Amino acid sequence: MPLAFLTSLYFEGYPRWLPEPWRLLKATTAISTIALTKWYTSGRPNPAERNMHGRVVLITGGTSGIGAATAYELAQRGAQVVLLTRLPPTDAFLAEYVDDLRARTGNHMVYAEQVDLADLHSVRQFATRWIDNAPPRRLDMIVLCAATMVPPGGKRVETEEGVEVTWMVNFLANFHLLGILSPAIRAQPFDRDVRIVVPTCSSYIASPRLDVEIQEKEWTPQTAYARSKLALMVFAKAYQKHLDAYKRPDQLPMTARVVLVDPGLARTPGMRRWLTRGSLWGLLVYVVLYFFAWLFLKSPTMAAQSLLFAAMESSLVRLPGGRLFKECMEVDCARKDVDDEEVAKKLWEASDKLIERVEKQQAVKRARAKKEQEKSEEEAKKAAQVDEIESLVGAITRGKAKAAKETQKKNGKRGKAAGSSTNSYKLRRPPFSILSGPHASPVAHGYVYQDAPRGDGKSAGPRL
Ligand SMILES: NC(=O)c1ccc[n+]([C@@H]2O[C@H](COP(=O)([O-])OP(=O)(O)OC[C@H]3O[C@@H](n4cnc5c(N)ncnc54)[C@H](OP(=O)(O)O)[C@@H]3O)[C@@H](O)[C@H]2O)c1
Repeated sequence: MPLAFLTSLYFEGYPRWLPEPWRLLKATTAISTIALTKWYTSGRPNPAERNMHGRVVLITGGTSGIGAATAYELAQRGAQVVLLTRLPPTDAFLAEYVDDLRARTGNHMVYAEQVDLADLHSVRQFATRWIDNAPPRRLDMIVLCAATMVPPGGKRVETEEGVEVTWMVNFLANFHLLGILSPAIRAQPFDRDVRIVVPTCSSYIASPRLDVEIQEKEWTPQTAYARSKLALMVFAKAYQKHLDAYKRPDQLPMTARVVLVDPGLARTPGMRRWLTRGSLWGLLVYVVLYFFAWLFLKSPTMAAQSLLFAAMESSLVRLPGGRLFKECMEVDCARKDVDDEEVAKKLWEASDKLIERVEKQQAVKRARAKKEQEKSEEEAKKAAQVDEIESLVGAITRGKAKAAKETQKKNGKRGKAAGSSTNSYKLRRPPFSILSGPHASPVAHGYVYQDAPRGDGKSAGPRL
């Protein structure tokens, strides 16, 4: 075919149906440039493979973007995936998502557990439940994909516990989770290749120093996000040292590895929220310019490739932990303070103090709320009892009134029949209607029934 075309080109000249040569050249150059750019920005596919059957993976952020793609790939390879989600597993959308993930991967070992990373108590509840298990539960991997970012121009937001939300979700919750899960990680057998995969972002390079607090007026969503990612990296490296320092009872070395991963920029819901500033107008612009987002940003699946490499590359267990990977290759950290032990120590101590303070405050709040709830429940119970007694007494009263009426009627008839006065059989007690007033409780007012003993005039209470 190409030969026939070239021959006709030679003998018959340039065919009319083809566009002008220079136009053709332009179009070819444009298409090749787009194709090359797309190929380059898509990143490198993961070259590592591993059978994940039987491996237990905890993953945060597994419901969206890069985390969802990672959870899918791991589930497809047979891993038991536990999604740590903000919503409870009973939530209809989450249940559907889990069902869908099971169906698409053909893996029924996909579960969800509620862990709201914006809530230290929720993190503690999950992690303590996990480590309280005896014998220790199998744990092969923790993938920390959850993250949040306030859209540009947005205001500083605090969680209900009073911690800035970006710091809380992106750093402090992970610090807290790994802190509590540390015994569970260290208790794994020597031959279990445990990985802690920590996604970061190149924005950490522009972060302000960790030992300098961001003042409220200097706070921007970008600096908060960058600072949280820098803190996470510093902590991840320190956590590896913490694991390495552990002396196993069997005297064998620790094989758990912390792996830092920069997935690159991707078209995820989080990125879209950031690009559109969380506004409808922004979304409209995003849709119109979607071609550029497609061209320059990776798909979530391609962004997950470096995470999958960190999860499955077998050589990593033989290398020291705390390394940074990008495009499935090891890269150097661009900041020296990531490896600074003094910075790490200060961060660790400050985070511990912050968690202790917040947890104490929250515990007091919860205890107070519980007391108040118990009090209001007690009051509601008492009110219900009073209501019940009143309705019982009412029923008895009505019954007695009815009976009295009937007796009266009978007596009237008898009186008539005997030719005597109608008032000859009068009731000695006041009418029962006094019970129907606003304070009608016969218990409270010592109301004496007609058939109660009457010797000293004191009430003996209702006879029910
Ligand atoms: N996208 C990028 O371009 C890019 C670039 C560099 C690094 N990264 C990093 O890659 C990771 C994944 O990013 P992504 O863009 O895929 O994220 P994303 O689409 O924004 O998804 C964030 C995930 O975090 C979860 N999450 C947020 N707040 C939570 C909370 N309070 N409790 C529990 N879960 C919570 C979300 O759960 P819900 O579904 O319930 O909201 C969601 O599953 C992040 O660590 C991010 O920093 C991303």
